[in-house]
Amino acid sequence: MSVVYRPARADDLAATDALVVSAINDLTVRHGFGPMATASPPSFQLFSLKDDPDGLWIAEDDGEILGFAWSWVCGNVWFLAQLFVDPARQGQGIGNELLGRTVEHARKSGAAHRALITFTFNRVSQGLYMRHGLFPKMPIYLFNAARERVMQELPAPPLRAIAIDGSAATMKKLAEIDSRAIGASREKHHRYLLDDPTTTGVLLCAGSDCVGYSYLASSAHIGPLAVTRPDFLHDAFTTALKLAADRSAENVSAFLPGTCDSVLRLAVKQGIRITFPMLLMASPEYGDWTQYLPRNPGFM
Ligand SMILES: CC(C)(COP(=O)(O)OP(=O)(O)OC[C@H]1O[C@@H](n2cnc3c(N)ncnc32)[C@H](O)[C@@H]1OP(=O)(O)O)[C@@H](O)C(=O)NCCC(=O)NCCS
Repeated sequence: MSVVYRPARADDLAATDALVVSAINDLTVRHGFGPMATASPPSFQLFSLKDDPDGLWIAEDDGEILGFAWSWVCGNVWFLAQLFVDPARQGQGIGNELLGRTVEHARKSGAAHRALITFTFNRVSQGLYMRHGLFPKMPIYLFNAARERVMQELPAPPLRAIAIDGSAATMKKLAEIDSRAIGASREKHHRYLLDDPTTTGVLLCAGSDCVGYSYLASSAHIGPLAVTRPDFLHDAFTTALKLAADRSAENVSAFLPGTCDSVLRLAVKQGIRITFPMLLMASPEYGDWTQYLPRNPGFM
């Protein structure tokens, strides 16, 4: 049978998650990093499918799923959340075909900016993305540290944290922060996070000014975190680290962009270790994040 490309359906998404986990671990093990991914319910995929079904594509052969591509759009930003091909069928043009379909999704959406986060050590994905007009912008490191170590001499939290609620006023503030930090409002994604029982979010305030927000997973993973100006990032991350360290999880983690010197300095001082080096790739003139820490390579 030949490979067929079709829009994804809700009942494909458990199988695509299994495919993604196996392709990630095949790659990270081959490069000496050990397995990185574990299976999880495809909640954000389902959310994206309901929101905009044009962004999720399947490659299949005789009913067997061989590849998956998933992109979402917020305002002017199109983001490729996942592109994965079964390790046994890589290098046969499937990834290129799937990517072509999601790039068409970007074109139809009219988004001015395109971005994704990939593995620094994957030559294939980077070469493929360059072919489609997405170029390397900056490293993003997945950091991880023992909670006990992070707590040692951690400065007092400089910002006040107020729980995020779903009110119109809060959503307006979040939209303003995102517009300044990443060039688009992500109100629908904040509503998704508000409904996620494993995540809590706070607005970060200096006096009466709301200067950013931060989310924290029950695993003590920080992100997304965004601020209205680059010089607030250090204080925002310090506050987020304190909130994370107050949890009972063994480790604290976050994705830190290479352009954010102040948070990298603090992370290293608190004993945080680089576990996976990742890379932001984007269309020309996008992607110099100095006010934003992504949640993960799919959510951004
Ligand atoms: C990345 C991935 C999706 C690509 O899918 P694929 O089906 O293997 O790729 P294709 O066969 O369609 O395209 C391969 C292209 O990559 C590029 N490429 C491969 N090796 C390259 C290299 N060393 N340097 C530059 N470009 C390279 C070429 O453009 C090549 O096409 P060509 O052989 O026609 O010249 C797939 O390999 C995969 O799932 N990898 C592991 C997970 C991963 O990293 N996913 C991306 C997450 S963001």
